[in-house]
Amino acid sequence: MKLTGKKALITGGNSGIGFATARLFIQEGAEVAITGRDQTTLDAAVEELGANAVAYRADVTDSTTRTDLFDKLGHQFGELDIVFANAGISARTPVGSTDEAIFENIIRVNLTGAFLTVQAALPLLKDGSSIILNGSIIASQGRIGSQGRGGHAAYAASKAGIVGMARSLASDLAPRRIRVNVVAPGATKTPIWSRNPLPPEQADEMAKRLAATIPLGRWGEADEIAKAVLFLASDDASYVNSVELFVDGGVVGSPYGGAVFQSA
Ligand SMILES: NC(=O)c1ccc[n+]([C@@H]2O[C@H](COP(=O)([O-])OP(=O)(O)OC[C@H]3O[C@@H](n4cnc5c(N)ncnc54)[C@H](OP(=O)(O)O)[C@@H]3O)[C@@H](O)[C@H]2O)c1
Repeated sequence: MKLTGKKALITGGNSGIGFATARLFIQEGAEVAITGRDQTTLDAAVEELGANAVAYRADVTDSTTRTDLFDKLGHQFGELDIVFANAGISARTPVGSTDEAIFENIIRVNLTGAFLTVQAALPLLKDGSSIILNGSIIASQGRIGSQGRGGHAAYAASKAGIVGMARSLASDLAPRRIRVNVVAPGATKTPIWSRNPLPPEQADEMAKRLAATIPLGRWGEADEIAKAVLFLASDDASYVNSVELFVDGGVVGSPYGGAVFQSA
């Protein structure tokens, strides 16, 4: 057991990567507080996760619910050893036809929301604790899965911002020996891909095209990202600080390993 006696906060813990991470953390001995906006999936997640999970409805962009969340965490849950700032959204922001409000909302949820979560958590975080921010390979790679669709400039900017922000936070929090790292997933099978759905045949085509760009030839599973987050959260990573850990089947490191290039 790698997290015995540890307490973790996971934003966006009611779905996808956040939920898989909550499940793994609990298997490894942690108590986990999850957040999200959707009460139905929060309730279902806690039911599945069991007695060592607690859920709080909180929007990372809403200062009132954030204040309420951290008040409740302080009084009901206790001090934190781990914060996984994971909550995020994606949407098309094609250059030339994107509304300011759509662009800004993505930055607000993915980047500002992560910063304000970490800031609000500081009084509860123990010295020597671990913060993990959820980035994305899109920060290093550009367009992802967007062939035939508009681009994702706001999402890419938000995730590039996560990397710069993590480095700055790691410096700021060094006096408290708090480690700050980024997990950067590649294409991972989660509900995020169906929140703005393509027609089914286009979705299948896009999924295949993306897989062909991945050296390991397939999409990742949420559990595979969770294992990397567990590593960063645990004492196994006690000397790992201010890194961006790609969990992407080799896309960023070996872009020409994908089948699409092998057969060319
Ligand atoms: N799946 C991939 O291929 C992939 C690749 C790279 C990076 N990522 C990153 O991984 C993270 C998790 O995404 P996922 O793939 O697991 O997708 P997901 O299943 O859609 O999960 C997103 C989570 O974020 C929460 N969330 C969204 N907006 C929120 C807000 N304003 N306040 C609080 N919670 C909010 C959602 O809960 P509610 O809906 O209840 O609010 C949900 O729990 C994101 O940061 C995403 O950018 C995913």
